[in-house]
Amino acid sequence: MSPDSSTAVTGDPGAHWWRHAVIYQVYVRSFADSDGDGIGDLPGIRSRLGHLAHLGVDALWITPFYPSPMADGGYDVADYRDVDPAFGTLDDARGLVADAHALGLRVIVDIVPNHTSAAHPWFQQALTAPPGSPERARYLFRPGRGDGPPNDWESVFGGPAWTRVPDGEWYLHLFDSSQPDVDWSNPEVRTEYVDVLRFWLDLGVDGFRIDVAHGLVKADGLPDAGDNDQHGVADTQRLPYFDQEGVHEIYRSWRAVLDSYSPPRVAVAEAWTRDAARTARYVRSDELHQAFNFHYLRADWSAADLRAVITGTLAATTPVGAPATWVLSNHDVQRVVTRYGDGPVGVRRARAATLLTLALPGSVYLYQGEELGLPEVLDLPDSVLQDPIWRRSNHTERGRDGCRVPIPWTRSGTALGFAPDGTTPWLPQPSGWSDLSVAAQTDDPASVLELYRTALRLRRDFDQAAELEWLESAPGVLTFHRGGLGCAVNFGPDTEILCGPLLLTSEQCEVDGAKLLLPQDTAAWWAIP
Ligand code: NOJ
Repeated sequence: MSPDSSTAVTGDPGAHWWRHAVIYQVYVRSFADSDGDGIGDLPGIRSRLGHLAHLGVDALWITPFYPSPMADGGYDVADYRDVDPAFGTLDDARGLVADAHALGLRVIVDIVPNHTSAAHPWFQQALTAPPGSPERARYLFRPGRGDGPPNDWESVFGGPAWTRVPDGEWYLHLFDSSQPDVDWSNPEVRTEYVDVLRFWLDLGVDGFRIDVAHGLVKADGLPDAGDNDQHGVADTQRLPYFDQEGVHEIYRSWRAVLDSYSPPRVAVAEAWTRDAARTARYVRSDELHQAFNFHYLRADWSAADLRAVITGTLAATTPVGAPATWVLSNHDVQRVVTRYGDGPVGVRRARAATLLTLALPGSVYLYQGEELGLPEVLDLPDSVLQDPIWRRSNHTERGRDGCRVPIPWTRSGTALGFAPDGTTPWLPQPSGWSDLSVAAQTDDPASVLELYRTALRLRRDFDQAAELEWLESAPGVLTFHRGGLGCAVNFGPDTEILCGPLLLTSEQCEVDGAKLLLPQDTAAWWAIP
């Protein structure tokens, strides 16, 4: 059944909107808290949609808001067809979709198909059912090898990927032990997740972000990985539990479901692969629409590295007819300001990276707070850390909470506008964040926020279909044309370049006719008549 057309988006009605969309990631726990429990929620998102419309994005992706014990911030789903009471109700979800559509914003939700929560009824049934039962066959239960686990696989969060149950069998969990992996060779599993897709599509969402899209299928026989630093090498080499051929058949069947809606719905893969060519396999024309370009996110702040990643990405995606999907940050990685050097240098580079990213052909994902230039919070007290990585690494890795601190909206208030005054947010906000709030940056032409607003407004006028053409430039400078846009980024010492009428620069620059003095770590956009 197609969703009620009365909730359809009023913006660009094109079925191909996603090919050049800018999509804003809302990490629901940290965006806006409407009821003062310190945790962000769906009514909070509804109340702040105006910010996203004003920013100029095309869509939002909302991280999981389903009933969950929150062992992994909601990526441990206990019920795929409801809303956790901490985040609101199904009616709030419907209202959010309708409000977003009325503002011309599309809504993408997360689907978590690699694992359920241990609190999911399926896993609870599996625990009390005997080995070999249909209840256990929805997961990957196996006998051990001697006293040890069935193989040498490691959890992404640290420690072994297997946990033993009282009758002696072990179950697989590539993440926390409270996130058992489901068995995608079981047809019941396949049917269930298609039904979940339909549930949210019928509610009116425009698409899905697929969690651990590269992990659903495991190599036959669950062979040893044969490596004792599996997550150190996960991005560079083949592992028997990631990026297996069998995942593609699943996405072909999902594409048929997405295409059966009018207009067709979309999906983006969270697929960590060893190179751009492997990522491009997820976006072949009968599979998914987008796959995050994590090779771009992982690149160093260097002209050579970024040029190599951009060129490699376009070379891999163009032949399959898919757009590239650029991403600099998300809720799993250190914030880009800090990754690029932190402090004023990090902010300066992140500003230049923003203009570079928004000038590239394809689609872009922004992570909440990126538009405010927020840094990683590196000094959260141990007592507030919630990421399971902290526990599973025996307190040797602090995990991802530093990029998940609730974002500041106002200059004052106990939660800087994230929550009603008097509320203590679930992670403490640094005192200096009042100056980084939306209110403090609005109308300040030098602010990161106004840079994003201007860049996103100008981007709407670009010829989105135009291809990128590299121009010769001085060492340490990247220069390209794309349709009517010229873009240069200087990673090295201050350099003079030739440009057309300036549209935007990431820092103040001296310009003399067609000559622009481009300082280090600065980007410029100009018009090509
Ligand atoms: C990727 C999600 O982005 C991350 O936050 C989560 O911990 C893992 N998948 C497991 O679901």
